[in-house]
Amino acid sequence: MSDAWASSSGTTSSLSERRSPDPCAMVIFGASGDLTERKIIPALYYLHRERILQDGFSVIGCGRTAMTHEQFRLKMQDAVAEFLHLSTEEKNQFPSSFGKRLFYLQGNFSEAAPYGELRKLLDQLDRERGTARNRLYYLATPPSFFPVVVQALGDAKLSQPLDADRNWSRIVIEKPFGRDLASARELNRVVTSVFNEDQVYRIDHYLGKETVQNLLVFRFANGVFEPVWNRRYVDHVQITVAEDLGVEDRGSYYEEAGCLRDMIQNHVIQLLSLVAMEPPAAFLADAVRDEKAKVLRAIRPVSVDRVGDFAIRGQYRAGHAKGATVPGYRSEPKVSASSTAETFAALRFVIDNWRWADVPFYLRSGKRMAKRASEIAIQFRRVPHLLFRDCATQRINPNLLIIHIQPDEGMSMTVSAKVPGPVMKIQPVTMNFRYNEAFGASPPTAYETLLLDCMLGDATLFNRQDAVDLSWQLVDPVLARWKEDGERGLAFYDAGSWGPAEADAFLAADGRSWIHPDTAH
Ligand code: BG6
Repeated sequence: MSDAWASSSGTTSSLSERRSPDPCAMVIFGASGDLTERKIIPALYYLHRERILQDGFSVIGCGRTAMTHEQFRLKMQDAVAEFLHLSTEEKNQFPSSFGKRLFYLQGNFSEAAPYGELRKLLDQLDRERGTARNRLYYLATPPSFFPVVVQALGDAKLSQPLDADRNWSRIVIEKPFGRDLASARELNRVVTSVFNEDQVYRIDHYLGKETVQNLLVFRFANGVFEPVWNRRYVDHVQITVAEDLGVEDRGSYYEEAGCLRDMIQNHVIQLLSLVAMEPPAAFLADAVRDEKAKVLRAIRPVSVDRVGDFAIRGQYRAGHAKGATVPGYRSEPKVSASSTAETFAALRFVIDNWRWADVPFYLRSGKRMAKRASEIAIQFRRVPHLLFRDCATQRINPNLLIIHIQPDEGMSMTVSAKVPGPVMKIQPVTMNFRYNEAFGASPPTAYETLLLDCMLGDATLFNRQDAVDLSWQLVDPVLARWKEDGERGLAFYDAGSWGPAEADAFLAADGRSWIHPDTAH
């Protein structure tokens, strides 16, 4: 274990228990974009600072923007300083500590020409920095370039390792993986014609979040939860991924995507699969991914003509956020004034298996909601009979377990307790567990864990193609219906609220109500 890690976090962490990754060259396509500077490079810097990366580890940023190596390093220095809040001293050390690992190659990567240059630079890094002919490609470009770059890597003979016994070559593909089932399958056809499945890492950064991984530990390393984790004890499950921000400057992307594609098809459905899956036989990539795929396969498909019974959508209008007036979605930059893109979606899924039959899973996500909060609420059933006189069962809140994914990672359990005094008065009390109180801060971006996993060749927290297909299969009918309906059925909500009134009615029809993050604990 690295001392640096133990002392900086104040505790041990899964990252510190890992073996060190092999040295490698990481090639980032789309290096002049937002994701590179906000997430990927800060995560790599974090791994560097924790002394997890090998000395030879190097990054080649590839992009259309003309930049020298030096300009790229300066840009990344500013980005890391901003996103990780570096002190001036640490920022000044960046060029000699981390900056020297960074290189840049400018070119149009939809064409063949720059791949010759890329090969030369990779060979040079192998010789001069000891990257050991290991390659990690990262597609951080707009999705339309994914197949183009993959094909070009194949044509340039860069996709396969030079010596499969001694080197490796892997590719990380960002979301969205396709925009519906057909396009996801087509992208997969191209990817698997160039790379083998075990070289492919389809990333969903939610799976790198500490609390999300802890869901597996929580469920399968504690004996007390599994026996009650089923239809006999659980009334329903709610998964909320709410953001207080609007679409910011991503209007053109969001117009094409909408909330269902942007959040539900990937992040939220991933959370659902971790909550609902059966225990895998081992914490190994295929064992975990088999169980996730099985539970997705057990979700009852929604037919296009019954979408209205299972899903609702909304769009934010002007309202308030953090004390300021904010515009409605249709007035955001690069958004059509008559847009029907949904910025909020809520769905009800039913899982047809022995564990979950008749237990609804309600999923919702939205932009410009009242609070940034991602939570999974497991609502247990009421006690069947209450023995305390004058206390009606209806007035006793059933137990509620909430897994707080962000912010304030942790868990809380609401139980009933007697209020001290001569009369029997029962009141709910909440037991709270906060990660940062117990363990100190966790890594800042969730990309640290996932990038390290790719370097180690551990695909457990990445999506296999079957799961990607299955989740598109679930949302495709909803997308089709909403597209056909246009504005019909689109509900509106004030920015800064918990979504449209129709979302409340959606649950009220089942005799339930949303557990809003700020009211639940
Ligand atoms: C991304 C979506 O995948 O996740 C964004 O494209 C969203 O629209 C983001 O804001 C949320 O991630 P996080 O980690 O901030 O919850």
